[in-house]
Amino acid sequence: MPIGIFDSGLGGLCALKELHRILPDADLVYFGDTGRTPYGTRSPETIMKYAAQDARFLLSRNVRAILIACGTVSTVALNALKISLPVPVYGVVSAASREAAASTKNGKIGVMGTGATISSGVFEHELKLINGSLTVTSVACPLLVPVVEYGFADDEIAYLSVKRYLQPIIDADADTVILGCTHFPILIKMLKKAAPHINFVDSGAAAAREIAAAFPDNDGSGAVHCCVSDTPASFNKTANVFLGEEIDFDVERVEIEKY
Ligand code: DGL
Repeated sequence: MPIGIFDSGLGGLCALKELHRILPDADLVYFGDTGRTPYGTRSPETIMKYAAQDARFLLSRNVRAILIACGTVSTVALNALKISLPVPVYGVVSAASREAAASTKNGKIGVMGTGATISSGVFEHELKLINGSLTVTSVACPLLVPVVEYGFADDEIAYLSVKRYLQPIIDADADTVILGCTHFPILIKMLKKAAPHINFVDSGAAAAREIAAAFPDNDGSGAVHCCVSDTPASFNKTANVFLGEEIDFDVERVEIEKY
């Protein structure tokens, strides 16, 4: 049985890539809600509704577990999905928080995410549960998702945006930053340029390592099936930005409102 992965759009492809690398024999089904992205600017009620539909679609494909490769859904809807779904569900918060808490030297951690993620306070809560003495500086970065989705990750616009958003984190002397939105690892070059002394934790990749450790035995063929709610053509155009290579995955369009 495959492992299901979903994101509001294409950011979760970084997690898919990491999972495919660690478990090359696992069959994977990816759903990117390209027709309704972004989620990060929406209300918790809407995010919950969309996330439940995304998960129900993956269940219809007989997945054995679900990775929510989206910071926004992980922070707003993880608990509700864990309670209501019949398969194990993983989000990006716990694995990334553990990696960040283990890597910081000075106990000062930054979190970058969408507006919905930062408003939820979930990363901060999780970090404090791991170690109550950590200092956490959280910054909502709403401009970064469109910068990535529209292909400006290597542009000066990206550099100026990440520099501006990193400033309060640099001022707070954080040595470790959680990229709490799965789109942000695409900006790693610019993030490193703006703050070379900071260790950036990729939350999607951390979660992929967590689910891979929980499901090490796979007897699939390593098939990767991608599904989107907008046209497959737009997926193909943008997917390479996330995967860092030309892909030739089978891409299917899904009527997500039916689920
Ligand atoms: N990939 C989503 C996340 O990790 C960001 C995009 C969105 O706002 O939908 O939060």
